[in-house]
Amino acid sequence: MTMSSSVPGEVVLDRFQRPIRDLRISVTDRCNFRCPFCMPAEVYGERYQFLPKQEILTFEEIARLARIFATLGVRKIRLTGGEPLLRNGVEKLVAMLAGIEGVEDLALTTNGHLLAQQAQALKEAGLQRVTVSLHSLDDDVVGQMNGRNFGASLVLKGIERAAEVGLLPVKINVVVIRGVNEHTLVELARFCKERGYIARFIEYMDVGTLNGWRMERVMPAAEVVRLIGEGMPLEPVEKDYRGEVAERYRYRDGGGEMGVIASVTQPFCGDCTRARLSPEGKLLTCLFASNGHDLREPLRAGASDQELQSIIADVWRVREDRYSELRTSMTERPAQRVEMFRIGG
Ligand code: GTP
Ligand code: 5AD
Ligand code: SF4
Ligand code: SF4
Repeated sequence: MTMSSSVPGEVVLDRFQRPIRDLRISVTDRCNFRCPFCMPAEVYGERYQFLPKQEILTFEEIARLARIFATLGVRKIRLTGGEPLLRNGVEKLVAMLAGIEGVEDLALTTNGHLLAQQAQALKEAGLQRVTVSLHSLDDDVVGQMNGRNFGASLVLKGIERAAEVGLLPVKINVVVIRGVNEHTLVELARFCKERGYIARFIEYMDVGTLNGWRMERVMPAAEVVRLIGEGMPLEPVEKDYRGEVAERYRYRDGGGEMGVIASVTQPFCGDCTRARLSPEGKLLTCLFASNGHDLREPLRAGASDQELQSIIADVWRVREDRYSELRTSMTERPAQRVEMFRIGG
């Protein structure tokens, strides 16, 4: 193991001078949905073997790593999955993370199915805000896009409850797929606008290897902005912070904002400051990585905080990922890539 000189406060930069600012922690590989663009039911059927419990990091292990990431510059933590609300007692983890010095933003991305019943406990534990995936208000479209024929009502209840208990702002992630939910976007945008939720339209990405992605199914973000702006005029707003993935727009009538995430047509790797931790403790430096760097082994073998800190810093220093920027010029996409539900977007 190479020992580096990392001490708390030192900023670690990768090969393109990008610091490490955000940590996305996937707390489980399980999900109660089977969105065809992420975890198609024909592949992840009843007999699919998810990670056994002993391979998944404990809350103590996650919190310890998060604390070490914070010493390396992480200021923002997001919990994801799979579906993070399927992890038993996830609010206990939230409470542990909320106490970490340096962490200014603690959020969670969920499919919303179990949110109504957990929102209050999450808020009390110290969660600041949630992002809920909802791809349409039309029950048939939603049912098709979650692969389970669940309508929108439970998710809508979850969203409402989250807003009520103060998990604000509530953002709504909408994956846009040409010919699937395209015709329902304006209605969804209007619904969010009226209630003060921030809709964010995400270009359909070629994550993983099993989702049957095709470029023809990507509806460019610019087209989404045009479509929504036709009935509800929009103007662009500056990014909130360096590395923000969404391009933000404000409704000209003062009725809030929306955003688009153009990871296919306008990649944003240049400012990518995100690290991802998989449920089994692998550090991934890109959403499209084919494999990660195992942190669980040293963690369980008794490595000190300082040793773990140098391992992470060493991985970050040699990072040169910029998959989305390179995709455009690739003739073939890599055969092996981590699946989206393992790292949660
Ligand atoms: P805020 O903190 O609210 O700005 O949100 P965020 O952008 O961190 O949130 P979220 O997890 O909701 O991200 C929205 C979506 O953008 C993800 O689900 C992904 O689909 C996509 N996305 C996020 N990070 C990356 C990234 O590093 N690369 C690519 N290509 N897409 C990303
Ligand atoms: N393309 C774009 N977004 C995706 N998500 C899952 N799979 C894809 C994909 N192929 C979204 C989820 C969730 C977020 C974490 O990423 O729906 O909103
Ligand atoms: Fe759908 Fe999210 Fe579950 Fe993937 S992890 S199947 S996108 S709900
Ligand atoms: Fe970051 Fe990789 Fe996404 Fe580019 S493709 S923004 S490097 S996660």
